[in-house]
Amino acid sequence: VAEAFAEGPLKGRHAIVTSGPTHEPIDPVRYIANRSSGAQGTAMAAALRDLGARVTFVTGPAEVPPPAGVDVVRVKTAQEMREAVEKANAADAPADVAVFAAAVADWHVTNASGSKMKKDGSGKVPALEFGENPDILAGVAQMTEGRPGLVIGFAAETDDVVANATAKRERKGCDWIVANDVSADTGIMGGAENAIVLIEENVAEVWPRMSKQEVARLLAARIAETVGAR
Ligand code: CTP
Ligand code: CA
Repeated sequence: VAEAFAEGPLKGRHAIVTSGPTHEPIDPVRYIANRSSGAQGTAMAAALRDLGARVTFVTGPAEVPPPAGVDVVRVKTAQEMREAVEKANAADAPADVAVFAAAVADWHVTNASGSKMKKDGSGKVPALEFGENPDILAGVAQMTEGRPGLVIGFAAETDDVVANATAKRERKGCDWIVANDVSADTGIMGGAENAIVLIEENVAEVWPRMSKQEVARLLAARIAETVGAR
């Protein structure tokens, strides 16, 4: 791995990384969010940068600041994230690798209010209605033209991690899935460490628990081996 870092094996390559949560508005002052800190996506972007890649970092409102030396595109909603990814991929040639580390909100509020919702004094509570957000990863993975060379998804699961993530890989059409168990007792969501299973076409590799930086460095080295060999 140390050797690979010295050589800059991803020099001249373009990587797109999505990261962080998305925020889906309820009204101008309220939103639906999730517990993603953006730590794993940020570490991925930094590791790919360190291997020499030009990185477009599409980030939702994360707790962790974006890394230096990458092109940062800040978004709030899933819809904005999709548009930013499409733009980044179509800008020149298709990206060499796209890593979807964002915890994209699955739903947005369809009856969001343009002005602040107020209590009317009657004790009546609002009823939110939800619509499904576009699946950004599946959209990119299933492109018939201009698809990035290597498409990598993350699968945050709380049960049957490998089975669920394997099915998710098939359903979405991505090349690899980085699966992890985000049950509250693992402390992974929002924590400093990650314990992943890397799922490729016919193999599932169980990695030991390590820091999110170390996961990112090892994944980036694996990406460089794969993309560099093409
Ligand atoms: N993803 C995405 N767009 C979405 C939802 C998910 O790009 N609207 C990506 C995530 O960034 C991640 C992968 O898809 O790389 C899997 O996300 P996950 O939430 O685990 O999968 P879902 O298909 O949303 O399934 P689930 O019902 O388990 O949440
Ligand atoms: Ca989801």
